Amino acid sequence: MGLQRILVTNAKGGCGKTTITTNIASYYASRGKTVRLFDHDSQGSSLAWINRRTADMEPIIGVDASKNSDHRLTRSWQLRVPPETDVAIIDSPAGTDISELVALFQENDSVLIPVLPSPIDIHAAAHFIKALLTSGGVRRKMIRVAVVANRVRKNTLMYYSLERFLFSLNIPFISSLRDTQLYARAIELGIGVAEISDSRNKIDLQQWAPIVRWLDTPVTQEIIPVTPLFNSSQR
Ligand SMILES: Nc1ncnc2c1ncn2[C@@H]1O[C@H](COP(=O)(O)OP(=O)(O)O)[C@@H](O)[C@H]1O
Ligand SMILES: [Mg+2]
Repeated sequence: MGLQRILVTNAKGGCGKTTITTNIASYYASRGKTVRLFDHDSQGSSLAWINRRTADMEPIIGVDASKNSDHRLTRSWQLRVPPETDVAIIDSPAGTDISELVALFQENDSVLIPVLPSPIDIHAAAHFIKALLTSGGVRRKMIRVAVVANRVRKNTLMYYSLERFLFSLNIPFISSLRDTQLYARAIELGIGVAEISDSRNKIDLQQWAPIVRWLDTPVTQEIIPVTPLFNSSQR
């Protein structure tokens, strides 16, 4: 397989873009892939996470791709993906403009959109996803787009609303990640939630499995429909 490019995006801040980016990066690094993480957010949270990784961990190459960074190299050089890269992961800032995002797309990219269970987040995501899908760039460049529910609390009305919304979209809803402090702990340690030595992460591994499966499904294959963990039949 050639270079795999994954973009994690949403117009809203705080929905879990950096959390999902870092977990995907550590997953591929742990599988021996050469991973390059492009942080387009000037806050640099993903790069800070890379910097917290210790020498015994698999390396992840961080690229400061934010507009405000004062790197001496030209921007296009900076954003170039060297051929030895297996996986390029792109973390984006809040408020990313759709046209800017579409300009970033390359053929066969995978785009993941995390959405939180809150009325404001659902409203913002509906607007963002509609704009993205009608932009033309997604179809033209054969981009795969999927949504992930994040910070989910089981048996809450808000989660049911989110699930209803995500199932109403014309794009795959591939998993629901629960709300757990293990994510903050993993960020602090420069690792993914799967690498935390705490058996309480078992459920998180299960929730990540469909995301990884979707990412690893070659574009030409049928997408395997995944039933989210807390579907309405469990009500
Ligand atoms: N599933 C989760 N469970 C608990 N906390 C989470 C989860 N996902 C994200 N967070 C926390 O929410 C905050 C925002 O997440 P972050 O990934 O930085 O969002 P973004 O990059 O979209 O702004 C962080 O403090 C992060 O630790
Ligand atoms: Mg972020």
